[in-house]
Amino acid sequence: MRYLPLFLLSLGLPLAGQVKYLAQQKMFVLTAGDVTYAVGVNEKGELQPVHFGGRMMRDGDFRAAHSVSGWASFDLAATTTPKEYAGAGGGLFVEPCLKATFADGVRDVVLKYESHQIQGDSLVIVTKDITYALTVALHYKVYPQGIVRKQAVITNGTAGVVTLESAQSGSIHLPPGEGYAFTHLYGRWAGETQVARELVQPGLQVIESKRGNTSHQANPWFAIDGPERATETSGQVWFGALGWSGNWRIAVEQTPHQQVRVTAGLNPYDFAHPLKPGEKLETPPLYVGYSKEGFGGASRAFHKFQREVIFPGGGAARPRPVLYNSWEATEMNVNEAGQAELAKKAASIGVERFVMDDGWFGARDTDRAGLGDWFVSKKKFPNGLKPLIEQVKGLGMDFGLWVEPEMVNPDSDLYRAHPDWAMHFPGRPRSEARNQLILNMARNDVKEYVFKVLDDLVSQNEIAFLKWDMNRNASEPGWPEVAPADQKKLWLEYTRNVYEVIDRLRAKHPKLEIESCSGGGGRIDLGILSRVEQVWTSDNTDALDRLKIQEGYTLAYAPKAMMAWVTDVPNFNGRSTPLRFRFLVAMQGSLGVGNNLNKWSAEDFALAKKMVSWYKGVRGTVQTGKLYRLLSPRSADGFAATEYVAEDGKQAVVFATLHSQQYGRTQPRLKLQGLDAQAVYQVTDIDGKFTAVLSGAAVMEYGLPVALTGDYAATAYTLERQ
Ligand code: GLA
Repeated sequence: MRYLPLFLLSLGLPLAGQVKYLAQQKMFVLTAGDVTYAVGVNEKGELQPVHFGGRMMRDGDFRAAHSVSGWASFDLAATTTPKEYAGAGGGLFVEPCLKATFADGVRDVVLKYESHQIQGDSLVIVTKDITYALTVALHYKVYPQGIVRKQAVITNGTAGVVTLESAQSGSIHLPPGEGYAFTHLYGRWAGETQVARELVQPGLQVIESKRGNTSHQANPWFAIDGPERATETSGQVWFGALGWSGNWRIAVEQTPHQQVRVTAGLNPYDFAHPLKPGEKLETPPLYVGYSKEGFGGASRAFHKFQREVIFPGGGAARPRPVLYNSWEATEMNVNEAGQAELAKKAASIGVERFVMDDGWFGARDTDRAGLGDWFVSKKKFPNGLKPLIEQVKGLGMDFGLWVEPEMVNPDSDLYRAHPDWAMHFPGRPRSEARNQLILNMARNDVKEYVFKVLDDLVSQNEIAFLKWDMNRNASEPGWPEVAPADQKKLWLEYTRNVYEVIDRLRAKHPKLEIESCSGGGGRIDLGILSRVEQVWTSDNTDALDRLKIQEGYTLAYAPKAMMAWVTDVPNFNGRSTPLRFRFLVAMQGSLGVGNNLNKWSAEDFALAKKMVSWYKGVRGTVQTGKLYRLLSPRSADGFAATEYVAEDGKQAVVFATLHSQQYGRTQPRLKLQGLDAQAVYQVTDIDGKFTAVLSGAAVMEYGLPVALTGDYAATAYTLERQ
């Protein structure tokens, strides 16, 4: 392998990411792994997308960009010419990236190339309005994992206020055509990351959040495949995701001239962002990629990028510890003795982190009171948290705590002292959800309060981990303390301040780890994932439902951050599945246990101990390997399978689950993927009952005979390369 880089160098090919400017063609060529993203400056000085797809090798193959003539008197060239970052003006009718009103009332923005700067794997192209000193700097960074990061910085260089009414992170353009399909994730509380796929149609298809956070209902990730349909293993897929946890929007558009474009960024809904002279707005980053190897290839590239670039600590970050969480066992009925008892039992099965959930603070006996008062309840913990933490640590685990810092119950000391801190419009009702209001985190004093209470908690106690929850969306988003023209900035400032609190907390407490939770998976996106180690995937812990939630999740996000707990049954749906099935589903992500261990039998403990110990032997592969979704849980017979292959190819892990057996129906052999056909593997099932030495070719071409029988049956295999 050692000579490979030299060999590539000798061909003059970039090893990782590279940015080039071809002066003759006025063309920027960005190479990200196997992907090329090219943008030209056309004869009018406009930035025009040229290519986003497979890698281009020869500079001479690029032709200078030329604007596209208009169509009759109705579609001007402004609309028919693809624009890298379209200003709303000059007769543009497609989705704009930027819409603005100048101080004199002018509502026309036409952007042209001004200058550029290349620095290693980064490029900045500065564009400017044809008349006014409003500039947009387009920032690009390329990554060897095949990903391009796009971000726009909009600066008001005029002497008056410029109000931005739409500020998008950017657009991507696909080769013109029809018959593309748009895949996205939708859902609801307890039913997140469901997969939807629809044909791209003429006009706009929009997914968005206007709730103040990422949302359960839609997720800021998209994939477009086609024009021929892609599968898990083949076909072209363009994909992308926004790094933003506030209001966002992704618009997929097919123009009447069969141009297909995706525009993503801040949601223009209820958006008005006045920029004073000299001020700038930085949009959230948009990460985009392309694969010729179907949805599987697309997600593997994106997962690798997330693990190595987005997640805190990058590739060097340690594996996720096996976690116990008290919520489903004790809900708010927590106290020192009860939690210590659970901790003892959790430690006995190999748990590494004990997390006490809701109920430990203020007057928090029900969800009607206490949020906002982040002080340890004297009634439940007369000696504070220290004695419990000591016991947890004595058992060889670290300690984590649940918080919901952006919230307040009207029945709390905080609300009694600062009713104005809750989001509201003066003189109008404040809608409660789960008996709580949302604090206006856009306010500086609220942000500082939240930072201080969390900082105090973590400074005064040995807390290794916070589960940061957010159990409602924003309503009545008033910010009466600032001028009416600035009040809509609340959406942006809220999210920025949440990020700031997390960033400051982490900087001050470098060992602290955080889980993002919003009533389950309401805040999962690349903005929060660059700040937290993991996310709570869903409050729904029903194993069968989870298979579908996890499948959708992994289309977009890496399994390492995907927390999956084993909990008691019957649970959601009133469904009872065997403990073994629940473990084998949860072990496909980062494992947690949330059972009431006081109710477990000796057999349950024995099984859990075996499962946790087996998981520890494969978690490196599950959490940081390449994921192959072999059989979808959405298939008719409910036979589902996933495979994870370690980056170094030494280990592979296969999980197979069967919903319900149909008498006499033969299950397909499981054809594995991503192995070395020539290599020989020791194949062993989780029970040690099946062992065989098989070649990569055998398990990939002939397949693995997995004979699951009965309902909610599950098994797993390891393949160790010999
Ligand atoms: C949310 C979370 C749960 C739990 C409860 C506590 O619903 O998603 O896991 O923490 O809040 O109130």
